[in-house]
Amino acid sequence: MGQEESTLADAHGPPETLQERSLEAVAEYIKSGDARRIVVLTGAGISTAAGIPDFRSPKTGLYSNLARLKLPYAEAVFDIAYFRNRPEPFYVLAQELYPGKFQPTVSHAFIALLAQKGLLQMLFTQNIDCLERAAGVPSDKIVEAHGSFATQRCIECKVEFPDDHMRKHVLRGDVPRCKECKGLVKPDITFFGEALPRAFSEKSHNTVMADLVLIIGTSLTVYPFASLPDMARQKAPRVLFNMEKVGSLGSRVDDVLELGSCDNGIRKLAGLLGWTDELEDLWRNVVGHEEAERQLRSQTDRDEEIEDELQKLTGEIETVLRLDEEKEDEEREDEDEDEEESKKAEDEEVSNNAQASKDIVDVKEAADEKDVAPAKEEKKNEPEAPTEEEKAKPEDTTTKLEESEVTKETEGKEVEESKKGESEDKPL
Ligand code: OAD
Repeated sequence: MGQEESTLADAHGPPETLQERSLEAVAEYIKSGDARRIVVLTGAGISTAAGIPDFRSPKTGLYSNLARLKLPYAEAVFDIAYFRNRPEPFYVLAQELYPGKFQPTVSHAFIALLAQKGLLQMLFTQNIDCLERAAGVPSDKIVEAHGSFATQRCIECKVEFPDDHMRKHVLRGDVPRCKECKGLVKPDITFFGEALPRAFSEKSHNTVMADLVLIIGTSLTVYPFASLPDMARQKAPRVLFNMEKVGSLGSRVDDVLELGSCDNGIRKLAGLLGWTDELEDLWRNVVGHEEAERQLRSQTDRDEEIEDELQKLTGEIETVLRLDEEKEDEEREDEDEDEEESKKAEDEEVSNNAQASKDIVDVKEAADEKDVAPAKEEKKNEPEAPTEEEKAKPEDTTTKLEESEVTKETEGKEVEESKKGESEDKPL
């Protein structure tokens, strides 16, 4: 789709709030003073220009690259049940994505500008890169719907883990363990299978109050976040800045679709509002000249950089998975050896017992060797310890994060069943 042009939405009938379904009309609406409460919803696409891969873009997305690895499914790296058994792949990613390495984009800066102008009602982000804060959006205006790297705790006893220790572990790429109970430590990022932070449900009513909703760089595939745009009042215009059409955007008469790079779309809106200089100054003051120029290079150059980064990342994850597999094989071999030895000992015992019972039979001249057998049979029927594979399966928990794409991709897998039935549990 064109990057400079708004695409006419597929809703029928004339708009109710806007003069027309265009970015020009959105700018007029803001200038009129009627859009006093602007809610912004963001996803990974807002940060790709900064050099962070998104999840689902076909070539440059994290999941499409992870798909070739031996993971049960690509999203498993962010699945709490998988993490319990295999935390290493997540920590490879964490090393790469840890805040501090990347700088905000002009779209992040635009949200900070909205806040400065007193127009930002609330920002809901699915991102964990903290770039909104870095751009200057006040923290009381941010809801990190999928958590963040700001704090971390033990997944077992829930005791917090110190920030400085965490930083050291993450930067070294190794897995931190709780000082109290030796449980795994995880940043307070919402994984599949976990509930969203309380702030999400406490603040989602802001979307209902919005005069205007801006949706930037998200595929709207993860619930309950994906249901936020539909909470907006019918009369509140919704503007999508995204590479592609997503969710229900386009179905309402006041929806505007600005398809293409979000930075281009946002710059266009800023221009229509007469905010260009203010926006560029704000952004350049935060990121510096060199980074600004880096981000302004062609999309192709940036995509190539992300592809290289992803190749490196998937290679590293592949290595930890291989190491894990080797460890597992060794453990299995040890177990097999142990089993063989205990079987030998058992057989010896059986034969001794058989001999003993024979002696008894001999003496009593009555019972047969059957008396010995049941003990062995009972042992056979004892429940076996769960295999690693079984342990890694997502639990049937009170999942609050539902991923429709996982459902699509893993059709037939157990994860689908566990997640399907839980849509009623959404906190919205
Ligand atoms: P996705 O990767 O699913 O979607 C990113 C969207 O942004 C896609 O529609 C892209 O086409 C678009 N996009 C990419 N670069 C863009 C750019 N420069 N300008 C405009 N659009 C661009 O990312 P999210 O929707 O954020 O959750 O994914 C949601 C959640 O799925 C994440 O929070 C994460 C993931 O699993 C967890 O890990 C729990």
